[in-house]
Amino acid sequence: MNITNKEMTHRRHIVLLPGDGIGPEIMAEAVRVLEVVSQQYSLGLTWESQLLGGAAIEAAGVPLPQATLQAAQAAQAVLLAAVGGPQWDRIERAIRPERGLLALRAALGLFANLRPALLYPQLAEASTLKPEVVAGLDLLIVRELTGGIYFGQPRGIRTLENGEREGFNTDVYRESEIRRIARVAFELAQQRRRQVLSVDKANVLEVTELWKEIMIEVGRDYPDVQLRHMYVDNAAMQLVRAPKQFDVIVTGNLFGDILSDEAAMLTGSIGMLPSASLDAAGKGMYEPCHGSAPDIAGQDKANPLAMILSVAMMLRYTFHEVAAAVAIEQAVGQVLDQGLRTADIASAGQAICGTRAMGAAVVKALQDQRSSS
Ligand code: IPM
Ligand code: MG
Repeated sequence: MNITNKEMTHRRHIVLLPGDGIGPEIMAEAVRVLEVVSQQYSLGLTWESQLLGGAAIEAAGVPLPQATLQAAQAAQAVLLAAVGGPQWDRIERAIRPERGLLALRAALGLFANLRPALLYPQLAEASTLKPEVVAGLDLLIVRELTGGIYFGQPRGIRTLENGEREGFNTDVYRESEIRRIARVAFELAQQRRRQVLSVDKANVLEVTELWKEIMIEVGRDYPDVQLRHMYVDNAAMQLVRAPKQFDVIVTGNLFGDILSDEAAMLTGSIGMLPSASLDAAGKGMYEPCHGSAPDIAGQDKANPLAMILSVAMMLRYTFHEVAAAVAIEQAVGQVLDQGLRTADIASAGQAICGTRAMGAAVVKALQDQRSSS
């Protein structure tokens, strides 16, 4: 097939990766939302589904089939639901579902993972923390996603001479990797409250001593942004003690994985939070922060809002369709105002709705916005 340059620049193609567990259910709701906004705002988007994770292991024997990788590389954006499940926990490590996700992040060069933790005022009651501690919370975790101990070599489990086994991984960051994620964090802070917190364990780990040094160096280019540093143990504590002190938090792959789950829970439920993983050119993969929740899969119980909000992030960051993104975010606010709650965000005594009903309510809110405007 011959694609001319003009067609290529106008191409707005998305690869959908429903994955495992609750993935297909929440993806179905995201697609309904995508269909509606795509039509309302004439976005000219096209999409196709591909296999990743356990679903791909079942169909093709590997978690990241060649066809999926090629489609993702050719597309302008990737929308991922979730991967993994207990049925694949005991297969060979190299082909587990999570490895498919990590390989995709690496192959697409998605080094910058943006995980906003934003508290919807309607859900202040759903947080396990006191409402006054979390009311108005709006922070952004910038997690380095393609380096650190997740990818460092050597790694493995080996048997020592005495027959005892030993597991080992390597935490490693190059200056260039630290520098580029630092720039992302400082630039995002400039569009927010101009504060960056760099999280490290520089009192123990050399790799994060270098991290801190480079953060300070890059920070000199952003004199309008205030840079602070915190050890990861203290940061974990401060996040539950006084989370509103934070604006942008930048950290490495492993600390970012942990702190982003913690930050998510401040907002009431990890079921509310989208994320973006971007490469150097702004191409992105968008996914909810939560996992595949195999315990509730196939039961119409999962909260589709993080997946739906991931669509909004995709429209904003990759396609620069801010009006459509805002419409989705407002529709989510409206369904919360209407009192719709999946089990994860319901407070005691509140009626609970299912995945499909929540998705349908968002679609309806989008349609109502249009007919009233
Ligand atoms: C996440 C997840 C992944 C990670 C897993 C599924 C490999 O926990 O996106 O936070 O550790 O990065
Ligand atoms: Mg995680």
